Amino acid sequence: MTLVDAISDKSCRIGILGMGYVGLPMATIFANRGFRVLGGDINAGIVETINRGESPISENGIDVMVKEAVSNGMLRATCDTEEVVKESDIVLVVVQTPIDADKRPDLEAVKCAVHTISKNLAEGKLIIIESTLPPGATQETVIPLLEQSGLRAGEDFYLAYSPERAIPTRTLEEIQKNSRIIGGVTEESALLATALYSHITSGELVTGDIKTVELVKVIENTYRDVNIALSNEVAILCEKLGIDAVRAIEMANKHPRVNLLQPGTGVGGHCIPKDPYFLINKAKELGIDLKVVSSARRVNENMPKHLLNLIEKALKSADKRIDDSKVAVLGIAYKGNTSDIRGTPSKEVIETLMEMDCDVFSHDPFVSEDFCGKFSNKIEDAVRDADCLVVVTDHDEYKHLDLKAFLKILKKPGVIVDGRRVIDPQKAEELDFHYFGVGY
Ligand SMILES: NC(=O)c1ccc[n+]([C@@H]2O[C@H](COP(=O)([O-])OP(=O)(O)OC[C@H]3O[C@@H](n4cnc5c(N)ncnc54)[C@H](O)[C@@H]3O)[C@@H](O)[C@H]2O)c1
Repeated sequence: MTLVDAISDKSCRIGILGMGYVGLPMATIFANRGFRVLGGDINAGIVETINRGESPISENGIDVMVKEAVSNGMLRATCDTEEVVKESDIVLVVVQTPIDADKRPDLEAVKCAVHTISKNLAEGKLIIIESTLPPGATQETVIPLLEQSGLRAGEDFYLAYSPERAIPTRTLEEIQKNSRIIGGVTEESALLATALYSHITSGELVTGDIKTVELVKVIENTYRDVNIALSNEVAILCEKLGIDAVRAIEMANKHPRVNLLQPGTGVGGHCIPKDPYFLINKAKELGIDLKVVSSARRVNENMPKHLLNLIEKALKSADKRIDDSKVAVLGIAYKGNTSDIRGTPSKEVIETLMEMDCDVFSHDPFVSEDFCGKFSNKIEDAVRDADCLVVVTDHDEYKHLDLKAFLKILKKPGVIVDGRRVIDPQKAEELDFHYFGVGY
């Protein structure tokens, strides 16, 4: 049977290297659509959790999907990544691609996964890289490693690149709805990958050459980063002008061709803070300085410091000092309603406050780790006797805080620093809170 037929009747076996925030949702979707999936991860804890039918990540709907896929026998996980390659007709690579301390792409995990594939590659397999790569990396890094197998990409095996576009908290929904971009080393590789993804998404499947697709993926996140940076600059200006930036942006967005994102304490997660550096570094190699992209990164990376300035200002307005205050930090996760703490601005905010001898108590409804030693999943523990409430994450829980009740357990006067603009300033001020917000 040819691979195209095996994709069509779902008899092909799918292997996925990397069972993280993208790999696991992808695995459960394929499994629950009738494909047999073997998931490989070097983290034994992740593998054991999945094989118990549980999800090691928090994501809307994932618990049910993992349970169903594992109990149906359609999904199994293993630390034996070589087995994943040997047992599969199609291997997806969905490992992390961070930046290193010098903000250069760190492709070690991809190289390691691709090396495993290379050692166990056989003719006729389809390899798809889903991890975000810098432009040119498939040609420069992935193909040479795969061809160490003695087999030729596009001749002996198929190779495609199709980066993920889903947003955390809606990963399952978006994988199945979003359009995908797919690059193939040959037209046949792209067609096979397209046939595969057509089983799981109702979105448009757009094909192009691999280098273009690599570039497009990083442009997309860079676009969002630059947009947020503009919003953050507007917010900082509005604070001086005495204008509410959130209201101003809301009004600007009524323009049919304006769509500014929201200002805030900074951009976190495993995508937007690092993907622009894939572009910046590639451009640098080519002698080009990406001024707008680099400035946007600087603006967004500076937002935790801006929040710290706001905290200092807010405490001063109540005749309090940072080194003599208890600050309740609401939110450890980088984004609302997730437990993901990668690149979270909370870390810098908490660590700097502690360096300034501030007594920090943090809260997060989803996260179980902290950066300050004093942490609770119960908000009252953090808020009790605090001199200042600082919202760092836009969890839904923080959008409905009972400020009146907090007034009874906070030190007087109540001080709020809203890094995500989830609290209504008017309501807070009516209750005599000293309210400071990003862009207010
Ligand atoms: N998180 C997102 O929402 C998102 C969205 C779009 C694109 N992306 C991109 O998708 C890729 C994966 O991101 P993620 O958030 O899922 O990362 P992740 O860190 O959550 O998951 C990666 C997993 O790969 C495993 N791993 C590392 N090396 C391995 C190897 N050699 N063999 C097998 N497993 C290995 C790790 O243990 C980890 O569990 C990245 O390139 C990221 O930029 C992520």
